[in-house]
This record gives sequence, C-alpha cells and structure tokens, in this order.
Amino acid sequence: MKPRVAILISGKGTNMLALLRCFAEGTLPGEVALVATDNPDAPGLMKAAEFGVKTFAFPYRSMGREAFEEALRACLTAHEVDWVLLAGFMKILTPEFVSAYSGRIVNIHPSLLPAFPGLDAIGQAWRYGVKITGVTVHLVDDQVDHGKILAQRALRIREGETLESLEARIHEVEHRLYWRTLRDLFKKKISSSERRSGA
Ligand code: GAR
Repeated sequence: MKPRVAILISGKGTNMLALLRCFAEGTLPGEVALVATDNPDAPGLMKAAEFGVKTFAFPYRSMGREAFEEALRACLTAHEVDWVLLAGFMKILTPEFVSAYSGRIVNIHPSLLPAFPGLDAIGQAWRYGVKITGVTVHLVDDQVDHGKILAQRALRIREGETLESLEARIHEVEHRLYWRTLRDLFKKKISSSERRSGA
C-alpha cells in the first residue's frame, strides 16, 4: 500500500514544494492527501493549491492549541493519512497528537540536532560561530525538534560567509535530504521504531 501523507507548513513552503515534486514525479512513493497549516497567511499554502493539492488552514492563533489539533486530527482521519510530514511547521504538537501518529511524524530541521533546536536555527548557528552546521531529518516526539534521528548532513561554514549564503546552502541540502530520507523510510531501509540502534 502506498503511504498517504499530509504535509504541515507554517511559512514559505520550499521544502513542501520539493516534496510535492518528488511525489508527483514518482521518485517518492505515495500520495499527498493534503497540505495543512496553522497560519492562513503562509505563502506555501497558495503554492500547494497551485500544485493541485487540497489545502486546509486552521488558524492556531484564533482557535487555540486544543481546537487546532482537534480540527487537524479530524481532517487527517477523514483523509486517511498514514504519515505526517512537517516542512517548516512551527508549532509544538501535544503528546496526545504525537502518540496517535507515533513513529509516523517526520520533521526536517536546519541544524545538526541536538544543537540549535527551535526558531531561527541557521541564524543561531551562524551567530554562535560554529564551523560546522547542517540539516537533520528526525521522527517527532513531544519535545521541540526532538526524536529519533533518521539522517543528517553536515555543512562547513565558510570563512566570512554571510547568513544569506548559509541559508541558501542549507535549504539546498534540505531539499535533497528530506525526500531521500523519506524514500528510505517508506522502503523500510531505515527503521521508524523509536529505539535507537544498540540502545
Ligand atoms: C526550513 O529551513 C525548515 O528546516 C525549518 O523551517 C524552514 C522552513 O522553510 N524548520 C524548522 O526550523 C523546524 N524547527 P520552508 O517553509 O521554505 O520549507
């Protein structure tokens, strides 16, 4: 059975678009049932609609967390979604939500976790002055940017590199790493069990 996925976004949606292209081309097996957001002004929402995908906006700010998650869960259930893919989704999911989709929520984060979780990870790493940063794809648990790591790519920060240049290079890596990791996950080449190997 091909996986049915929902992609959750909060902003621009460049990672979402990269995934939509892979599903459309068949490089990623599965079907995108819907794209949903907590932010009705997310520019990515329009891009998803232009791509011909069903979109849903559940305004988190006016609804509050409980009503937001209730509406989101009802939507995912109605569309028989198996996997929830976070692509720049900036809200923390409750333990109840996470356990309902245990091992089937994946996130991409623009740092080498556990370094620099949270907002503006690229800026955090750049301002700290680390020499190496990168991208992480991981399963989601109920902590921020936390859960079993599925894949990581490291990137050396160049001498004198601007934040804009680093952001561009990180996004390039993200757009390749996310779909490849999902492909391996869906083919069961990497395990979605929460247990870390050897643990
Ligand atoms: C991406 O860099 C993604 O890794 C990051 O938000 C950006 C969204 O960009 N996610 C997080 O920081 C999650 N904590 P996009 O909307 O263009 O894909």
